[in-house]
Amino acid sequence: MWGGRFAEGPASVMREINASIPFDKRMWQQDIAGSKAHVAMLGAQGIVAADDAQAIGAGLDRIADDYAANGVPVDLALEDIHMATEARLADLIGPTAGRLHTARSRNDQVATDFRLWVRDAVDMVGSGLKGLQAALLARAEEHAASVIPGFTHLQVAQPVTLGHHLMAYFEMIARDRSRFADARARMNLCPLGSAALAGTGYPIDRHATAAALGFDGPTRNSLDSVSDRDFALDYLMAATQCALHLSRLAEEVIIWASQPFGFVKLSDAWSTGSSIMPQKRNPDAAELVRGHAGRIMGCMTALSVTMKGLPLAYSKDMQDDKPPVFEAHDLLGLSIAAMTGMVETLRFDTDRMRIAAMAGFSTATDLADWLVRDAGLPFREAHHVTGRIVKRAEEKGIGLADLSLDELKAIDERIDERLYALLTVDASVASRASFGGTAPDQVRARIAEAKAALD
Ligand code: ARG
Repeated sequence: MWGGRFAEGPASVMREINASIPFDKRMWQQDIAGSKAHVAMLGAQGIVAADDAQAIGAGLDRIADDYAANGVPVDLALEDIHMATEARLADLIGPTAGRLHTARSRNDQVATDFRLWVRDAVDMVGSGLKGLQAALLARAEEHAASVIPGFTHLQVAQPVTLGHHLMAYFEMIARDRSRFADARARMNLCPLGSAALAGTGYPIDRHATAAALGFDGPTRNSLDSVSDRDFALDYLMAATQCALHLSRLAEEVIIWASQPFGFVKLSDAWSTGSSIMPQKRNPDAAELVRGHAGRIMGCMTALSVTMKGLPLAYSKDMQDDKPPVFEAHDLLGLSIAAMTGMVETLRFDTDRMRIAAMAGFSTATDLADWLVRDAGLPFREAHHVTGRIVKRAEEKGIGLADLSLDELKAIDERIDERLYALLTVDASVASRASFGGTAPDQVRARIAEAKAALD
């Protein structure tokens, strides 16, 4: 492509370090779409003769058919997908192919192709996340009133409903979707026509190419356009936060599936066995979702560090933008799909969860609240009295509701038998009916809203 200036070809390692075709061939559809929009505009503006523009467009269509049928051939000598496609075009239609690159540089070409690719990636992630939300909603509805222990410090704190717990993840995924949507809106401007860095002297129509490629308009600064990879970083940062959420859910599935907890059984389809221990049923998929989150964060770090020291405008370092985005996208897609499959098929042991929810004096706060509400104690005093009751039950190795009324009255005579009805886990969760609280009615109300929002 630049033979006019050079007497010798590149060293073979030069060829290897320089080539991005092994990975950027993944953008062939975007590359062809960008070229077609560009050449149509060149034709419409009279920069390239109409019949040449026509021949180039038809040639690009043939190449697209060929790539779709046979894949993109990898020839390191052709460096990248942009050169490979242009070389193929020249084979097909001859020297007219050389008119395609008028008023364009690979710098604005690659910036455009990659934006188009990331935009598609955002859309794919968005629909995957919507599927995960639907799965969470369905399971939450089924278990709106199933009681599980709520934890702080991984110590039993207060009973909550499983529906409420699952809806917490629904909220996280909703924020992830909105982050991806924000990123999409921000990236949807077209760099094509910025040329190498300074714009071009040809009478191009950047608004036309932007519209043809589904962008909201052209970017506003040619230097920024060819050196900006914020859209890829936005994607990776949204992916990082999303992976972080998936990893937390995976971690809970792993804990819940462990024998001491036994809250949940993974279906056969989402478990693995052990080659030595015949009894084993391991949550490998959940562990890999947790593991993949680390790698996705690594991809985000990789591109951040690549970009942080680059002067304007394009530097070849920026070619390293694609592998971390592709890797993170593949890992995230798998993680979302695996998590959706697991959530859909988890078998919850509601009896065990309920028993665990009763452990650890989990309704002690309800007792203290009753002392405030029905016996008129100040909360701090009620907290102290309840502490003494818990201590007594602990010494005797029994639950709060197993203490006799006499024993309770001995600690504080204002207590009466109405208290017992409040010490069950069901009464406890039902009482937490503040907006966004764990009471089954609240959970059902939030599920109804979430369903309406999802459709
Ligand atoms: N393969 C290159 C990349 O991915 C295309 C841009 C090359 N531009 C250049 N001036 N060498 O960044």
